[in-house]
Amino acid sequence: MRYLAAACGVRQFLDIGTGLPTASNTHQVAQAAARDARVVYVDNDPIVLAHARALLTSTPGGATAYLDADLRDTSAILAEAARTLDFGRPVALMLLIILHLIPDADDPHGIVATLVRALPSGSYLVLAHPASDIRAAQMAEMTRRVNERMAGPGATMRDRAAITRFFDGLNLVEPGVVQPQQWRPEPGDLSLPEVTAWCGLARKP
Ligand SMILES: C[S@@+](CC[C@H](N)C(=O)[O-])C[C@H]1O[C@@H](n2cnc3c(N)ncnc32)[C@H](O)[C@@H]1O
Repeated sequence: MRYLAAACGVRQFLDIGTGLPTASNTHQVAQAAARDARVVYVDNDPIVLAHARALLTSTPGGATAYLDADLRDTSAILAEAARTLDFGRPVALMLLIILHLIPDADDPHGIVATLVRALPSGSYLVLAHPASDIRAAQMAEMTRRVNERMAGPGATMRDRAAITRFFDGLNLVEPGVVQPQQWRPEPGDLSLPEVTAWCGLARKP
């Protein structure tokens, strides 16, 4: 968030798969860097919706909005988000730890491509996805146990190649697709815990 707002000058964020409000929510980090940042949150969990009011604080010059919508419903998300975001100017699309909840049968790569197509040149895709190929045996066992307890199709962990394909047609920013603790750590962050996920940030040419 800080990199996008401070170094890239991005002022608009579409954060799909928001999760429960916590410390340092997307709009708080963005608006700390740029007070006029505008953020649209999207989630389909009724519990997140119940807590959404905590996300709807904003600096006076910026804006926040919350959509109760499913990632698969790209046309509804884009239409509603356009009430808050100007799709004629760059937008950072954030898909952090959500795409593993979209099974291959629902074409997660197609969903991401549809959303990216709606963004103008100079926009960014920020994506993090749990990995099947880091500590593979433990991740497979964890996925098996989680999916025993989850309703619906469960989680699909993916490997680095499949996760890198989400960035097709975009220019990956250095250091590319890496584990989250390896993506531009702050000076002094010498012993961050390992995250079993792949992440990246890419610019739309
Ligand atoms: C693991 S949390 C990630 C939260 C946050 N992005 C983060 O990285 O800390 C995944 C979130 O995605 C939401 N989610 C899962 N499937 C979704 C879907 N199909 N459409 C919209 N939101 C979804 C869940 O309700 C949950 O809040």
